[in-house]
Amino acid sequence: MDSEGSFATKSIHAGSKPRVNHSMVCPIFQSATYEQPSLDQRYEDIKYLRLNNSPTHEHLDAKIGQLENGTALVLSSGMAAITTSLLALCSSGDHILMQDPCYGASTVFATHDLTRFGMDVTFFNSFDVQSIDEVLSLLRPSTRVIYVESIANPLTRIPNMPVIIEAAKLFGERHGTRIITMIDNTFATPYNFRPLDCGIDVVLHSGTKYLNGHSDICAGVVVVRDKSLMEKIQTMATHLGPCLDPNSCFLLDRGLKTLPLRIQQHNDNALRLAQFLESHQSVARVNYPGLESHKDHARALSLFTPHQSHHGKVTDGTANGTDGHGSSVGCGGMLSFELASASLEAAGRFVYALQVATMAPSLGSVETLVTIPARSSHAGLSAEERQRAGVSESLIRVSVGLEGIEDLIEDFQTALKQV
Ligand SMILES: Cc1ncc(COP(=O)(O)O)c(C=O)c1O
Repeated sequence: MDSEGSFATKSIHAGSKPRVNHSMVCPIFQSATYEQPSLDQRYEDIKYLRLNNSPTHEHLDAKIGQLENGTALVLSSGMAAITTSLLALCSSGDHILMQDPCYGASTVFATHDLTRFGMDVTFFNSFDVQSIDEVLSLLRPSTRVIYVESIANPLTRIPNMPVIIEAAKLFGERHGTRIITMIDNTFATPYNFRPLDCGIDVVLHSGTKYLNGHSDICAGVVVVRDKSLMEKIQTMATHLGPCLDPNSCFLLDRGLKTLPLRIQQHNDNALRLAQFLESHQSVARVNYPGLESHKDHARALSLFTPHQSHHGKVTDGTANGTDGHGSSVGCGGMLSFELASASLEAAGRFVYALQVATMAPSLGSVETLVTIPARSSHAGLSAEERQRAGVSESLIRVSVGLEGIEDLIEDFQTALKQV
């Protein structure tokens, strides 16, 4: 099983052959070191746990590579994937153009750490840029990386990727340089969006989230097509040492086997919950790219992958998210909404009235989790900065899980009576 087969088939079988001792499940190779077979063994073939190259790692790399249509490397966390890649590909004097907003730790790493190492970081509104010229005006001969997220937290905006990719290419040609485009694809997952196919150079994931899907490991992934980029990232990983524990490799592989089933249900549940919330009088605004009211709805339809729903037909209400050929376009499991009574107290009463969903950070797992960004991911910002980022006091973020959608809707309906 190589690069053939559907996404579902690859999720189960990719990377599994030859099977170790005919085992249907890739064993956990816990060994930190491996016998050296001869004096002639090449340096690159040395096996050692820090190098992320046990058979368990290689199996997982092969599978994720096939799901994202590239070459993958698993690491110990999403932040390990992000920081290792940026440190590997950027040097002192380089300029990094970064989406605003990005995941908090990525932004702080860029502004606090990369700048300490002599890099310059500027931010841009990747969602509302309309033209290649607009992006070109933000680039410099020293620009090394443009960094975006496929669905941004917490307003679920989607960057104008075609324009950004084209500008990076054009600028590089004009100036004899190379601008590397990097994307954090954690929220979308390769089931809904495969950035390498659109011309993005480096794809990053927090494998802690949807790829594993069960809130029981911390993992990260880097995927590229250009092997020269992977060599640099692999070398940096060897130096920094963020290796993924073999037990976590096993759990991540097990999670991946159900990735398409899970994400299809996340897509379906999130759309249904978003539609319910949008029609509720206590809700002022819902942010979900599958809704026609979302600013980037058309972009989601043009970039994301169309699927048949679980039931072999378009699910209730997915008319909002169809691609025009009867398939629904998956927009993932993340949404956020604002209460009509725009106060933190009301948001607090709501989240603690929920019985099925739980107030907890993180996302991408089978259980529904809610957070209030003003008191979690964006708590470190001033009120003014939060307002600029569009994060109100009553904004509630939901990682929609896989519970029965009727139970979730009833839970939200009951809790909304508390506001
Ligand atoms: C979009 C995104 N990227 C990266 C990360 C970091 O992942 P990890 O916690 O696995 O390091 C997170 C964590 O929440 C995230 O939401």
